[in-house]
Amino acid sequence: SNTASSTDDKLLQICQLLEANIEHYNWVGFYFKNGDKNELKLGPYVGEPTDHTIIPFGKGICGQVAVSNQNFVVPDVAAQDNYIACSITVKAEIVIPIFVNGENIGQIDIDSNTPDPFTEADERFLEFVCAKVAKLL
Ligand code: SME
Repeated sequence: SNTASSTDDKLLQICQLLEANIEHYNWVGFYFKNGDKNELKLGPYVGEPTDHTIIPFGKGICGQVAVSNQNFVVPDVAAQDNYIACSITVKAEIVIPIFVNGENIGQIDIDSNTPDPFTEADERFLEFVCAKVAKLL
């Protein structure tokens, strides 16, 4: 029942709230499965613009989560070999999948300029956010 634009407005507001209120969240965005292609497409986000608007499944942290259906917490991005760098200021990343009817349809991706900032509390909180997001898609 939601139009695409009103859903994107809500997703953007979620990004803005998270980035503004949580000090170690410095880039916050959504990627979604791009139609029936085996790739992710960038949705609403806040932070530095990224060149990586399309990410093939399996590539980078985001692409790996599209395939694994699991949370991916990266305490040190420099230690990852399958990683897509968007900004030299980024030290750590967390990606949490979004499930609709049990299907992994996208994810929230958060970059931090702080080394090793993400805890299990972030995972639980972001799982909660993703469950809410799933209901408005
Ligand atoms: N670092 C991500 C790419 C997306 S940017 O963080 C916005 C990755 O390795 O998948």
